[in-house]
Amino acid sequence: MISLPDAFKKFKSRMELNEREQQNASKRQKEVREHLDNAFQIDRSFLTGSYARWTKSKPLKDVDIFFVLGKDEDHYRDKHPDKILTAFYNTLVDVYGSSAVKKQGRSVGVDFGVVVDSDDNTDYRVVSVDAVPAFAKGDDYEIPNNTTGKWMGTNPEIHAQKAVSAHQAYGNEWKGLVRMVKYWNQNSRHGEKPIKPSFLIEVMAMECLHGGWGGSHDREIQAFFATLRDRIHEDWPDPAGLGSPVSDRMDAAMVKRAQTILDQANRDIAAAIHLARQGKNGDALKAWRAFFGPKFPLS
Ligand SMILES: Nc1ncnc2c1ncn2[C@@H]1O[C@H](COP(=O)(O)OP(=O)(O)OP(=O)(O)O)[C@@H](O)[C@H]1O
Ligand SMILES: [Mg+2]
Repeated sequence: MISLPDAFKKFKSRMELNEREQQNASKRQKEVREHLDNAFQIDRSFLTGSYARWTKSKPLKDVDIFFVLGKDEDHYRDKHPDKILTAFYNTLVDVYGSSAVKKQGRSVGVDFGVVVDSDDNTDYRVVSVDAVPAFAKGDDYEIPNNTTGKWMGTNPEIHAQKAVSAHQAYGNEWKGLVRMVKYWNQNSRHGEKPIKPSFLIEVMAMECLHGGWGGSHDREIQAFFATLRDRIHEDWPDPAGLGSPVSDRMDAAMVKRAQTILDQANRDIAAAIHLARQGKNGDALKAWRAFFGPKFPLS
């Protein structure tokens, strides 16, 4: 039987990007870019968001791609952000069909129809991408925000640097832990994700996971979930100080629901840790698997 520390290591590595997934993501980036090139002047595009920071959990859904628009498209900046999102949407619907394309608050999602199996595997393929129209603004970017009806500043480079600093300050275990907690958040047993957006988990981890890596995943997860429960109701600004608060999608009812689910999570964690302390390794493994989902190994 696998030991608990080894199970966590295996769980962590299962959520790391591998060569084939990265090749597939690049292929999809090129493909979507080619379609958008037919309708827009695009200066460059790049894979970004949690995918580029290695804080995305599996299966790989909603991988973010920024499409940096050129001068010919500047007129969109004076318009409601819905205009560019609708234009992206129309172009992509022509190619992928309306059932595969979704207009979202800040991006247009494209689903590639990849099947996710019961172990959350996709044969190393990306399930969907989010095409984000962006304008360069100095070192920053402006992206549409349909919730506010305004263009929003962002800087993925700053988010990436902050993630790297947090990772290093935490014995290089920070990104792995963020992926695990994001995986818990998307467990289908919750129905809706308790914490939205999942970027909020990463933003909270930037501030809450300090004091150094203590050496065991279960204890670190216990401490982080306790803090998530205590501080989920707070306002969490964009760590780059540019965009709207990352916590602005959680209204009072959503916060209350998240708190209830996090209370249960904290009880589940205590029970799993107790099983291990009693020497019931097999039961502890099962408890963690039920907690996280099928990517947590039993052997
Ligand atoms: N409120 C915000 N202000 C500024 N930038 C933001 C904000 N929300 C998200 N971003 C940036 O846009 C990126 C993509 O947003 P998204 O919601 O997809 O988060 P993510 O980190 O990619 O998480 P997920 O794993 O859920 O895709 C983020 O990684 C972050 O760099
Ligand atoms: Mg994303």
